[in-house]
Amino acid sequence: MSFVVAGGTGTVGSKITRELLGQGHQVRVLTRDAERAAERLGHQDGLEFFQIDLTDPGRLVGGFGKGDRVFVGLGGSPTQVQDENALIDAAASAEVEYLVKLSCEGVDTGTENLILDVHRAVEGHLADSGIPSTLVRPSTFIDTIVSIASQFIPQDAWGGNSADGVCTFVDTRDVAEVFASLLRQGPEAHAGRAYTLTGPDAVSMSQVAELISTAVSREVRHHERAESENESFLTGLGLPPLQVAVLLGLDQFTREGIMSQVHGDTHVLLGKPARPAAAFINETVAELLSAS
Ligand SMILES: NC(=O)c1ccc[n+]([C@@H]2O[C@H](COP(=O)([O-])OP(=O)(O)OC[C@H]3O[C@@H](n4cnc5c(N)ncnc54)[C@H](OP(=O)(O)O)[C@@H]3O)[C@@H](O)[C@H]2O)c1
Repeated sequence: MSFVVAGGTGTVGSKITRELLGQGHQVRVLTRDAERAAERLGHQDGLEFFQIDLTDPGRLVGGFGKGDRVFVGLGGSPTQVQDENALIDAAASAEVEYLVKLSCEGVDTGTENLILDVHRAVEGHLADSGIPSTLVRPSTFIDTIVSIASQFIPQDAWGGNSADGVCTFVDTRDVAEVFASLLRQGPEAHAGRAYTLTGPDAVSMSQVAELISTAVSREVRHHERAESENESFLTGLGLPPLQVAVLLGLDQFTREGIMSQVHGDTHVLLGKPARPAAAFINETVAELLSAS
């Protein structure tokens, strides 16, 4: 059985790749830069890199083989919808057996949000493709929150407009383990299903700040800013508009409680409890902060 990981150098995709390789499977990573991908993941038995041009559908088909099981999870970009749709079209032409897509919690709500709109469009395209597939919709990654926090904490400028909202931040190690298990178990077990992956509890950003403070043994604050103030602050840093929109969108999820409910899918699919946000924070934040 052969697995294809589109986005295999990314936060989630690299963990899926390592997980599948560790279980002795063959993995083909589709990447825009095979040399950089090899530096990132290293060369090892069973791992193949296939360089793709997401604007060249003819060559994209060559990344897939008949009967392959495929992960699609690209990083956010202005072209994410067309890029993921192009991968889906190529996978369908190649007659892959199964495709699992990294989506986002809240996609099935009426919430207006750029990130959700991207995933709604790709989920719709995937449904029309006829490929047996599974949608995986995680809440906000605790990895993402810690990464953002570690960039702003040194200037005591970490904040946003999440108000008193809570989010069930999920650990990407759990997300990747679920994906690896879905890919192994295949369409007979999971096609046509959508799973919502969350952490085991809902926490506010001020509680995340307390967890970070405990981990680094000093007080770290998350400053509440009005949305317009926050937008001006982020834009003033020179961040690209998409990045500003994504940061504001993550706050919106927490403020509006879009990801405030704990779902049982993670525990059931992992066969063990989901990792709490505190675990990731305790393991990583001190090092991230000392490096920033
Ligand atoms: N962050 C969160 O809290 C969160 C929560 C729920 C859902 N999600 C969803 O998860 C996905 C992101 O997952 P991730 O963090 O694992 O992805 P990531 O690490 O940002 O990127 C995954 C890979 O996508 C490939 N890619 C192809 N075209 C790209 C482009 N134009 N810009 C950036 N990367 C591109 C890159 O591989 P190559 O360079 O090797 O081609 C990259 O390594 C998004 O769809 C996001 O909406 C995120």
